[in-house]
Amino acid sequence: MNLLSIDALTVDRGTARILDRVSLDVARGETVALVGESGAGKSTIATAIMRLLGDARISGSIALADAGDLLALREPDMVRLRGRRLSMIFQDAGAALNPAYTVGAQLVSAVRRNLGLGKRDAHARAVELMTQVGINDPEARLSAYPHQLSGGMQQRVMVAIALAADPDLLLADEPTSALDVTIQAQIVRLILAQTRARGAACIFVLHDLALASQACDSVVVLYAGQVVESGPVRDVLDNARHPYTRQLKSCVLEIGRDDLVAPEGTVPSHEDMPAGCRFATRCPRAQDRCWADAPPLETARGSHRFACWNPE
Ligand SMILES: Nc1ncnc2c1ncn2[C@@H]1O[C@H](COP(=O)(O)OP(=O)(O)OP(=O)(O)O)[C@@H](O)[C@H]1O
Ligand code: SF4
Ligand SMILES: [Mg+2]
Repeated sequence: MNLLSIDALTVDRGTARILDRVSLDVARGETVALVGESGAGKSTIATAIMRLLGDARISGSIALADAGDLLALREPDMVRLRGRRLSMIFQDAGAALNPAYTVGAQLVSAVRRNLGLGKRDAHARAVELMTQVGINDPEARLSAYPHQLSGGMQQRVMVAIALAADPDLLLADEPTSALDVTIQAQIVRLILAQTRARGAACIFVLHDLALASQACDSVVVLYAGQVVESGPVRDVLDNARHPYTRQLKSCVLEIGRDDLVAPEGTVPSHEDMPAGCRFATRCPRAQDRCWADAPPLETARGSHRFACWNPE
């Protein structure tokens, strides 16, 4: 049984359909990379799982093992799940940490809230977590304020806070984009090593396709709020069927950069979105039917799926 099963998740804000029938599964212990250009809906998926989307209109279901459909839970039940079973690392650690409290106060309070430990045990657990995320001299660092730490160190503290309760599922939303490239790779590897060591699953929003291919089990490619291709990393990247996945891959290869460089053209605005395949305005393989009918997700092999009327 899957740890998480998202089915036909649709999110609307005003007249804009931000996510359109997104389905994805995460097995226990699996690491899933979410990739796609800016605005594709990656953060919206992560935030919807945490049920922190505010006034957006949401339909579909997000089933978590032993908890049922998160969208149907009462808020107090959701509060209990956040931190304990689901945890999120946000993009900007500097903004996510409270400047008025020491790192130790914030980490100890996360440990106490989620694990119900007394002060002394919580402190010992905080020191242990700081060590696990590679922070030297953890006792001294616990009494530092966030601004006294480097960006990479702050991000490590965020990882420690997110791991404080040994969650079943960690959501990491481009947690390293504010850091320099070497530190980025270190933090990504740290998060993956720590989630693996705990047998936790991870949904990783990544802009680095090469890193996704080395470090994750599965990949979900999003375009304009729709899943266009998903499955085991090797199947999707070595045998991409969707023209958008191909373009993403060739951008990485041609330019010789690891980052996710956008293919030519831009994503249409929500007012101008084609009724059929949302990629039709940029697709070299588009046919008449592509403009009118949205292609369903089809199975290529095993759990490798793609949505295209005229696949590669
Ligand atoms: N609070 C909001 N109010 C209105 N529109 C929003 C809001 N948050 C996101 N959107 C819109 O939803 C769409 C998806 O945004 P989202 O932040 O999920 O994309 P993303 O894939 O995470 O992009 P990025 O790579 O830039 O972080 C975008 O069109 C964005 O403009
Ligand atoms: S459905 Fe048509 S427009 Fe969409 S990706 Fe496939 S070929 Fe291109
Ligand atoms: Mg985002």
